[in-house]
Amino acid sequence: TMNENTTIVVFGASGDLAKKKTYPALFGLYRNEFLPRNVHIVGYARTKMTLEEYRKRISSYIKIVTKPMEKQLEKFLELCTYVSGPYDEDSGYKELANHLNSIEGTTPFDRLFYMALPPNVFVEVSSHTKRLCYPQNGRAKLIVEKPFGSDLESSRALQKDLAPIWTEDELFRIDHYLGKEMVKNLLIVRFGNEFFNANWNKNHISNIQITFKETIGTEGRGGYFDPTGIIRDVMQNHLLQVLTMVAMERPISFSAEDIRDEKVRVLRAIPAINPGDVIIGQYVASEDGTKPGYKDDEGVPKDSRCPTFAGMALYIKNERWDGVPFILKAGKALDEQKTEIRIQFKDVSSGIFRDIPRNELVIRVQPDEAIYLKINAKLPGLTMNTALTELDLTYRRRFSDLKIPEAYESLILDALKGDHSNFVRDDELDASWRIFTPLLKYLDQNTDVVPSPYAYGSRGPAFLDSFVASYGYVRTQPG
Ligand code: BG6
Repeated sequence: TMNENTTIVVFGASGDLAKKKTYPALFGLYRNEFLPRNVHIVGYARTKMTLEEYRKRISSYIKIVTKPMEKQLEKFLELCTYVSGPYDEDSGYKELANHLNSIEGTTPFDRLFYMALPPNVFVEVSSHTKRLCYPQNGRAKLIVEKPFGSDLESSRALQKDLAPIWTEDELFRIDHYLGKEMVKNLLIVRFGNEFFNANWNKNHISNIQITFKETIGTEGRGGYFDPTGIIRDVMQNHLLQVLTMVAMERPISFSAEDIRDEKVRVLRAIPAINPGDVIIGQYVASEDGTKPGYKDDEGVPKDSRCPTFAGMALYIKNERWDGVPFILKAGKALDEQKTEIRIQFKDVSSGIFRDIPRNELVIRVQPDEAIYLKINAKLPGLTMNTALTELDLTYRRRFSDLKIPEAYESLILDALKGDHSNFVRDDELDASWRIFTPLLKYLDQNTDVVPSPYAYGSRGPAFLDSFVASYGYVRTQPG
């Protein structure tokens, strides 16, 4: 449940994440009256700014599309105040604490601390906060953002540093893919429909693909991206979370711990990825030369082996999934922007059909949320010819009057309510790094493993289709 007296403190309030995601999400919640009745929003960062400059900065990322929104934004900004100070000295936190005490007055308030910060200051800020800004008479919560380490050891080290300061119950680790409508929907679609539930296993499913494509490259941020690479950036976290939601067993209830218990269980059944099941790529300039290659990006070493594209197959060693490849693909600077889950069913047994396409269930996470099932039907007419067609649930058409919330809105609301279901638990994080760490080490250490080039704006490395086909994926007709 939500405490109607809550202060939200945004650390890193002048940074990119806060401007692009946190504040717009807070405004979205405010507008729809989802924030606590008595809420304060306090920004904290090193940058010295006047209140006016800070409010201007926040509003620059909030898109005003209707007249009433203008008024709402004005009201929202009135809730927002700012304190500047260092991250590594008591002084700033003392000032912050004084500010919090003065705006909260004598009423007990909960405090939700949102860390929109680079990982190297996580521990420092959270320990100062605990010591100097912890609420006197209310609950405290801490939202943290990835990266949670860069491999199993560093992730454990970070957890070890945080654990004595913040309890697991107070911590909310964001993986924003868990806040996306279609990812949350997986529990309902799978377990709320016997039609899908019954077929959701190795007896009927041939292979599953989870694909993440972006059309933009690193666009000047290559220096930050290079030590990370696409595998750490989106696969070990976002795509693995999606895989988990696709593959987990039915939880006993919708409670956070029941859900997360099942997620951990399925992760533990996944062996470390075999480097033989992996391809990597790095984009070069577009064919027409108008878009730069990855190595042209400022800050990227000329001999960088950083993957901006990767494809890999994972296996789940349990009764439901043994032998079914889960193919993850992710890349930047590709031909389209799309995240989707593609579940390909096995062939129908031969007999009356010589050659009939497979069923495919596609869950499009973004953009243009949809679920569609490719099915065979008789082509209308006087023959027995078949046609591959679709049962199509496109959200924009079916739910045209409903707004799909932003992932961050959904997650901040969950944190305010104290619901951990869509946040990453410590053992879950551990299990996910265990699957990826040997591969990451292998790629880091083997200098002869170099990513294959693909042109900016293309579909990816040339052998992508044969890679996917080697795991049993059969291309059906377009549609
Ligand atoms: C972030 C990655 O976690 O997710 C980015 O660091 C990526 O590189 C982004 O672009 C994708 O998120 P979304 O919600 O736009 O699909």
